[in-house]
Amino acid sequence: MRSRPLPGDRSDDATVHRMIRVDHAGEYGAARIYTGQLAVLGRRGKADLIRHMRDQEQVHLDTFNATVADRRVRPTVLLPFWHLAGFALGAATAALGERAAMACTVAVEETIDAHYTAQIDRLGSTEPALRETLEKFRGEEREHRDIALANEAERTPGYRLLSAAIRAGCRLAIGLSERL
Ligand SMILES: [Fe+2]
Ligand SMILES: [Fe+2]
Repeated sequence: MRSRPLPGDRSDDATVHRMIRVDHAGEYGAARIYTGQLAVLGRRGKADLIRHMRDQEQVHLDTFNATVADRRVRPTVLLPFWHLAGFALGAATAALGERAAMACTVAVEETIDAHYTAQIDRLGSTEPALRETLEKFRGEEREHRDIALANEAERTPGYRLLSAAIRAGCRLAIGLSERL
């Protein structure tokens, strides 16, 4: 528990605020990706799986919405952009078919898994409550990746190229959302 600010706390605070800002942005984007997928595939065979993942992302987002408010973190100014870009990515991959939607899920969830792992390592023994949240969410992101792999993500035509493009986009989104 943090009592009053001490000299040297500032940089830690700034670091943790950046973490919360980007995690909030990421969960916001993830929820929008699955909403975009459902807009296209909502009546198809994989809809229940996608809905399950979307519902978990909504819980992740609700958690970070509360954290942003509690800790007075400034959300990224890019939220309106992630609103559109997340939906567009979900809908566009879904329009290519259920396998392409699953390929998108693998690329996104693996990137988020690596991102949460880096944050967890960085927090070490500080911020135990935040760390516990990240570990729980990371477990669910890995579950999403596994669902997508089990549903033929890798059989999408052009899988490697599609996957590389989405990963690069996600890493760019992470870098921008930490700073802006
Ligand atoms: Fe999530
Ligand atoms: Fe996820």
